[in-house]
Amino acid sequence: MKNESPKAVDFVSRQKRLLKSLGKGVAVFPSPPPTIRNNDVHFPFRQSSNLYYLTGFREAQSIGLFAPATKNPVRMFVQPKDKTKELWEGPILGPAKAKKLTGADAAYPSSPSNFFDEALIQALCESDCLYYRVGVDQAFDQRIFHLLSKASKRLGRTGRALWPILDPDEILGEMRLEKDDAEIQRMQVAADITARAHSYAMQITRPGMYEYEIEAALFQSFRAQGADRVGYESIVAAGSNACVLHYIENSKKMQARDLLLIDAGAEYQYYTADITRCFPVGGRFSEPQKEVYSAVLNAQKACIDEAKPGSTMKKIHDTAVEVLVEELKKLKLLKGPSSKIIKDKSYRQYFPHGTGHWLGMDVHDVGRYYDGDYDTSRKLKAGYAFTIEPGLYFGPGTQAPAKYKGIGVRIEDDIVITNKGCRILTAGVPKEIDEVENLCNQQDSVH
Ligand code: GLY
Ligand code: MN
Ligand code: MN
Repeated sequence: MKNESPKAVDFVSRQKRLLKSLGKGVAVFPSPPPTIRNNDVHFPFRQSSNLYYLTGFREAQSIGLFAPATKNPVRMFVQPKDKTKELWEGPILGPAKAKKLTGADAAYPSSPSNFFDEALIQALCESDCLYYRVGVDQAFDQRIFHLLSKASKRLGRTGRALWPILDPDEILGEMRLEKDDAEIQRMQVAADITARAHSYAMQITRPGMYEYEIEAALFQSFRAQGADRVGYESIVAAGSNACVLHYIENSKKMQARDLLLIDAGAEYQYYTADITRCFPVGGRFSEPQKEVYSAVLNAQKACIDEAKPGSTMKKIHDTAVEVLVEELKKLKLLKGPSSKIIKDKSYRQYFPHGTGHWLGMDVHDVGRYYDGDYDTSRKLKAGYAFTIEPGLYFGPGTQAPAKYKGIGVRIEDDIVITNKGCRILTAGVPKEIDEVENLCNQQDSVH
């Protein structure tokens, strides 16, 4: 299926905003290194979210250098044209095209390495700090440390060769947290693709199928709709596998009595969705499954009501806890005063995770959650995107009565804050019990 082509992204204005924030600092954003899977097979390459966000450049072995105090504040270092490599791996843009595409002031080959190395040394000599994320790529870290020492030698005994290393995610996190229209449009496409794939999974799942068949169907649907890849490994968890929060083995044969929890999201133009739905493999919820599902759905809806400008992730989580505690008491799974249960956190045996996270280019996206204190009380503003995903899990090791044992339910939607409230990006996939059952009992008519 062809998706409407997304609005052009203004990468150059992002570069200008970054340069402003850097002051007299210099920032380096490398591509992630190639990672060996086994022998000469590599994991698929994906550009780093920060480098793509700033430049729109997708090729491996590239580096963005941002140095506002220099003559060419934005420089790209990219793979040089290479006929042999291009024969095996396809066209390489090369520096000239990279300059044009990214709007950089200049572009050079990233190998041999001396172009970048010399540029960074010179930029450091005119700058007072370095923005570079240490610890992601150890080989690149060593290269940066070596260049810092060379720059230091070049400045000699001037007392100026002091460059604190700061994490650029402090700045990029703030920039990326507030999504603009072009980003929200991409997120909506990712959400629509994902919603259709989840609905398709509800239609085709039957007892006797394996979890991996549904994982494959989701991937087929994502790619057939124009998604680039998954935003994270798909969780397709039947029965008590749903109680393993990040279960990705997806190997079990599904039974009619199982609930199937699917947590999967398509990535479209570098933005990912993140949806969880649960539905009965046999087409009808059992009574205990219905009870647990309704409890989670009530909490999830109460949280969505709390998603508006001025609210906080903390308030949303507190809402989930308050509603789930009442629901757990109704189900006789917890007893005593709610305030005590909340204080001693005994609900965590059934609801052991947070209620949501920022969402964007990374499924767990960047940006501070706090405003002063180190908690999650940052006030929500229009353009902030995040998930709302309460859940209840009664794994084999919990104290729940037998009728609830093995049930795991999470319901996850993607939300963006608007001026007046919020928009649910993932409303396209049903979550009401009757709607879910109806879809489960419909033959696939779309694909
Ligand atoms: N899919 C991972 C999460 O929901 O956080
Ligand atoms: Mn999530
Ligand atoms: Mn998820």
